[in-house]
Amino acid sequence: MAYDRDNRPDLSAYWMPFTANRQFKAAPRLLVSASGMHYRADDGREVLDGTSGLWCVNAGHGRPEIAAAVQNQLMTLDYAPSFQMGHPIAFDFATALAKIAPEGLDRIFFTNSGSESVDTALKIAIAYHRARGQGQRSKIVGREKGYHGVGFGGISAGGLVNNRRVYPLLPADHMRHTHDPARNAFSRGLPAHGAELADDLEQLVALHGAETLAAVVVEPVAGSAGVLPPPVGYLERLRKICDTHGILLIFDEVITGFGRLGQPFAGHYFGVTPDLMTTAKGITNGVLPMGAVFVRREVHDAVVNGSDAAMEFFHGYTYSGHPVSCAAGLATLEIYRREGLFTRAGDLAETWADALHGLRDLPLVTDIRNLGLMAGIDLAPKAGAPGGRGYAAMVAAFEAGVLIRATGDTLAMSPPLIVSEAQIDQLVSTVRTVISALD
Ligand SMILES: Cc1ncc(COP(=O)(O)O)c(C=O)c1O
Repeated sequence: MAYDRDNRPDLSAYWMPFTANRQFKAAPRLLVSASGMHYRADDGREVLDGTSGLWCVNAGHGRPEIAAAVQNQLMTLDYAPSFQMGHPIAFDFATALAKIAPEGLDRIFFTNSGSESVDTALKIAIAYHRARGQGQRSKIVGREKGYHGVGFGGISAGGLVNNRRVYPLLPADHMRHTHDPARNAFSRGLPAHGAELADDLEQLVALHGAETLAAVVVEPVAGSAGVLPPPVGYLERLRKICDTHGILLIFDEVITGFGRLGQPFAGHYFGVTPDLMTTAKGITNGVLPMGAVFVRREVHDAVVNGSDAAMEFFHGYTYSGHPVSCAAGLATLEIYRREGLFTRAGDLAETWADALHGLRDLPLVTDIRNLGLMAGIDLAPKAGAPGGRGYAAMVAAFEAGVLIRATGDTLAMSPPLIVSEAQIDQLVSTVRTVISALD
């Protein structure tokens, strides 16, 4: 059935995720189709996708090659169990991913989402230490403002209070975040100040004892909290401190992976290699749910060869390595390769930065941050209504034909990597008009 404004679905049964349900259902925004850089809304308007859906449609919408691969796989092998059974395409996809991974991260565990990738990575880290006779290493270190999905591991490591406050949590502690507008406002690319914040890890070692700490998990560029690129030298310093104390370093690349920064992964971009890397989203261009944890070979070997049990790692999902998702993933990788999309964000980065920092003169704009094809714009909050301006800007932008995201009073943008310079212009000039009209 074709939906339009005169033929809307019943909105009551679907309890929407991360949505103000009552507000949304009172004034719904429905997307009914998509192609290339655009969605179509149910009133027929084209909406420029300034967010790659939810940071996932890196190659743009409606790619026929992915559809054909999915269709073919569905009719060849629609599903097969992955526990004690295998199917070729999961091995092929793992091999293809290992080839584009940062050096040494060539063992791949499949999941279905970013949240599952994070919980899986944390379990692998704890299992690794245990296999090496250090079973007391089970605490996790995260960072304020970190987002690692909604599993209990992810919210424990995460640092966004609304995701955590009402739930029991795993043993975890947090480093300070790196958002420092007093020193770094309007940085182009990496902020100059704040590498020393990595030393928070030393303090947590002093507080908890290295022998209790399993892993540190950070987003190389924090995404959901409003696009926070790391200060120059910060990730390098974190890597060094982890090495000193035998703590595993996990990069959560659910957003930064698959070309967002102009390299396959942020690990490549920063020249810092983690021990584990969590991914999802762009792995299938967002078309089917899938995630993968990339694991350093020695970590894998310690767990797999260090266990007396026949089954070395008691973990997995019914849909781990789902054949249809693997087919979508292989077709997606082929598009990324053929169209040079892993480097395109790098080619556009200066144009992107110029366009965004052109908004600096707007009185309500208090900070602009950018890296690769990611950007965050902070708006001064309205007195007594924090988050109000961000939400109003998101709605107004949608009405004006561009999709952006708002987290509180921060606007975030991350267009598909196929975006043209003219579309960057359209996106940013619409945002200018929208911010200028805010009260
Ligand atoms: C860095 C990061 N980790 C994990 C997740 C969770 O992914 P999912 O929503 O697929 O569970 C997200 C989602 O935005 C994310 O940005």
